[in-house]
Amino acid sequence: MTFTTRLLTGTALALTLAMPAMAKEYRIAVGDGAGGTQEALGKAFVAALEEKSGGAMTGKLFLNGQLGDEQDTVTAAATGTLDFSILAINNITPFSPSVGTLTLPYVILSQEDAEKITQGEVGQQMIDQTVEDAGVRIIGWAYSGFRVLTNSKKPISTVADLQGVVVRVPKNEIMIDTYKSWGINPTPMAWGETFAALQQKVVDGQDNPYMTVNAMKFYEVQNHITDLRYLFSIEPLIVSEALFEGLSEEEQQQVLEAGKEATAFSAQFLRDQEGKIREELVGRGMEITAPADDEKEFIDLATTQVWPKYYDQIGGKEVLDQVLTSLGREPAAE
Ligand code: MLT
Repeated sequence: MTFTTRLLTGTALALTLAMPAMAKEYRIAVGDGAGGTQEALGKAFVAALEEKSGGAMTGKLFLNGQLGDEQDTVTAAATGTLDFSILAINNITPFSPSVGTLTLPYVILSQEDAEKITQGEVGQQMIDQTVEDAGVRIIGWAYSGFRVLTNSKKPISTVADLQGVVVRVPKNEIMIDTYKSWGINPTPMAWGETFAALQQKVVDGQDNPYMTVNAMKFYEVQNHITDLRYLFSIEPLIVSEALFEGLSEEEQQQVLEAGKEATAFSAQFLRDQEGKIREELVGRGMEITAPADDEKEFIDLATTQVWPKYYDQIGGKEVLDQVLTSLGREPAAE
């Protein structure tokens, strides 16, 4: 070895020792825009992943569906062309019907219910089932709050008021049937097309949580909100199962722990932010209407017409009953 080669080798070695190992940077698809609960979960996950892996693993968020529409990211992660995605649970249901229990109307009645279900035994069963059905693993949960109905036509407080209003829903059969139980035929549409459809008045309204309405700037094209509480929006962070299986046991543990930490952050983020964001939407000219009679009419129609229709798909009535009883409620009526 010449002196110059020795010097270069020595310099390279010194540099290698001084620099952290090259981090693996994962691509994380995010369906919503900046400022929402999905981004908050994603940022918390990346920070925790870097910390737990000593900088060996990190992630980059691609907001606003840049890496594909939410439902398409499930297929991309399953086939290994995408690493991670954060999306609404209703956009996973078409690939893993068992998580449909979480999109049934009026099952989750509070943020505490949502945390209990996702972080308990039922949540673990759903994670295992989703790996099997869809080839993706849920490693964290964003809690986004109840989906509220927005529209550009009029205040809506009763089922009668809803008639004639054209509402966009995700391509999710349970949600389509929920609106049918209220007497209207909603328009199933991909998330990425929703803003333009509201703006061009192809549809009059849509439903999503306050946090999402704000992150997506829907206040620019919608002025009425009905404070429906039919569905609490849970938005999982999923990883490609192929990617996860390819990690060492230690790395898998770091990914899972980072997901857990990000989930705890998300729960607190919603508690801290939702009230403030609701006020901001009012400040931007949105008018909030409460459903009449504590929403009883909406609840009765949806639970009696929609729940029984999905027993087979979610794995039997007993699956719903297990969820209800774990939340301290009565099993569903026969
Ligand atoms: C949808 O309505 O398709 C989703 O809930 C959107 C979202 O992920 O926020």
